[in-house]
Amino acid sequence: MFEDIADQLKKAKDIVFVTGAGISQESGIPTFRGKDGLWRKYDPMTLATIDAFYQNPKLVWEWYEERRQNILSAKPNPGHLAIADLEKYRKVSVLTQNIDGLHQRAGSTNVYELHGSIITIKCTVCDLKDTITTNFSQLPPMCKCGNMLRPDVVWFGEALPQDIWKSAIEQSSSCDAMIVVGTSLAVSPANLLPVYAKENGATLIEVNPDKTPMSDIMDLSLRSSAAKALPELVNLVA
Ligand code: OAD
Repeated sequence: MFEDIADQLKKAKDIVFVTGAGISQESGIPTFRGKDGLWRKYDPMTLATIDAFYQNPKLVWEWYEERRQNILSAKPNPGHLAIADLEKYRKVSVLTQNIDGLHQRAGSTNVYELHGSIITIKCTVCDLKDTITTNFSQLPPMCKCGNMLRPDVVWFGEALPQDIWKSAIEQSSSCDAMIVVGTSLAVSPANLLPVYAKENGATLIEVNPDKTPMSDIMDLSLRSSAAKALPELVNLVA
């Protein structure tokens, strides 16, 4: 069984990774669900919705600033690095729900941020979009146009950036293999991507210490951590 899947992976020319918070867990960034997950301690409805932001922009900004500081001091782990390394051998795309930028810092060049980025800001009114380079002197930070700036992330109830989502569907529908890493697949529409790959007959591999709602459609589930399993998978292909 494992040999068959390993063989299919070796033959795959076009490999897509779908990643979630679990891939950055070993870099010291907490996941959302599970034992030490952020949503055990915090209520997403008061921190990660557009209504919450307008109700208490300072609180939401403080929460994102604390996470941004933690993310900036974190380093890519062997899981992120292995995915970046695979670009030497295959066409690789990374469709990530993470906002931490660690795939790019590891060297991946073809990253689609489905849920935006904590490193960029955008204006709530005008079309300003920028990278955050310094700490803010006041929260919420204000745009030159006089309106509030917000983190450039996708909150619950908001649509994904349409061009990125369209590309994600295209890549998922045409890849030879999809490797789903560190996501509970609890959040739509990102959790549909493995279905597109399956419909195209791609080999589906999951890397997750726990079972997920899509484990049953996987060709192989590696019950292992990302930092351990991904370098081994990449070695098979390289
Ligand atoms: P979750 O926190 O829902 O799931 C993390 C997954 O990673 C779980 O299935 C864990 O079993 C697995 N995991 C934990 N440690 C791991 C490790 N070292 N290696 C591999 N896997 C590991 O995170 P996401 O699925 O990314 O959205 O969550 C999706 C979205 O829900 C996030 O983008 C965020 C959140 O609410 C918004 O804030 C809009």
